Amino acid sequence: MRLRRRQGTMEVLKDLTDLVVLDPKNNKGKWNKIFGNDRPIYVELGMGKGKFISEMSSRNADVNYIGIDMYDELVRKASDKAFEIREAAGQGKPENLRLVLFNIEHIEEVFAPQEIERIFLNFSDPWPKKRHGFRRLTHPRFLQRYQQILNKRGEIHFKTDSRSLFEFSLNSFADMGLRMRNISLDLHAEGRREDLVMTEYESKFADQGINIHRCEVLIGEASLQEHVEHLAKSL
Ligand SMILES: C[S@@+](CC[C@H](N)C(=O)[O-])C[C@H]1O[C@@H](n2cnc3c(N)ncnc32)[C@H](O)[C@@H]1O
Repeated sequence: MRLRRRQGTMEVLKDLTDLVVLDPKNNKGKWNKIFGNDRPIYVELGMGKGKFISEMSSRNADVNYIGIDMYDELVRKASDKAFEIREAAGQGKPENLRLVLFNIEHIEEVFAPQEIERIFLNFSDPWPKKRHGFRRLTHPRFLQRYQQILNKRGEIHFKTDSRSLFEFSLNSFADMGLRMRNISLDLHAEGRREDLVMTEYESKFADQGINIHRCEVLIGEASLQEHVEHLAKSL
């Protein structure tokens, strides 16, 4: 993503204390306290300009949302987007949303075991060269960390335009013995799935007629159990 850096970005972020978290390690194990409730926490890893996480948080007041990105300029754009979406919806402050500046490489330093319920991986960088495979956010070394921080209802929801990243990821999930659900190779084949909330990248690719791949990965035992029971009923 090409970024034009504005002056004073960090100063702006430092002033947004209710929304932006610049020292997220201090919140490890305390996120529900920060939100002031016991509601589940859903996290987008690599939120970019933040449309998805802001819209999700605006639509679902009964869930807490955290968007993470490693670029301060993107966190700033995401904060603008959060206020814009709330204003358009006639809502007040985004109380169920936090935007975090952090590198996902060290995600286990930000969340305690079982602290979160869902991870969204939306259009993660595909890292097409084989020698960069370990950087893909669906590499088993990341999946191990996600398994630690997700709770018993834990799931990963993954979307990408990249066929090679999707193939790699399905193999990664299978290698880790993980169960998948709702696998799609062309998510919007029967019209735009606006119910799932589209990301900036997704809108751009869908407009160009590029297929979007998606799947859900069941991590927690309660999530898995629910799925198995649901399947049994449909047999
Ligand atoms: C291709 S963009 C997708 C943005 C957004 N999810 C969307 O669908 O529109 C990938 C994003 O992941 C972020 N990212 C990649 N690696 C990261 C890392 N290790 N830590 C934090 N953010 C990362 C990038 O800065 C970028 O904003």
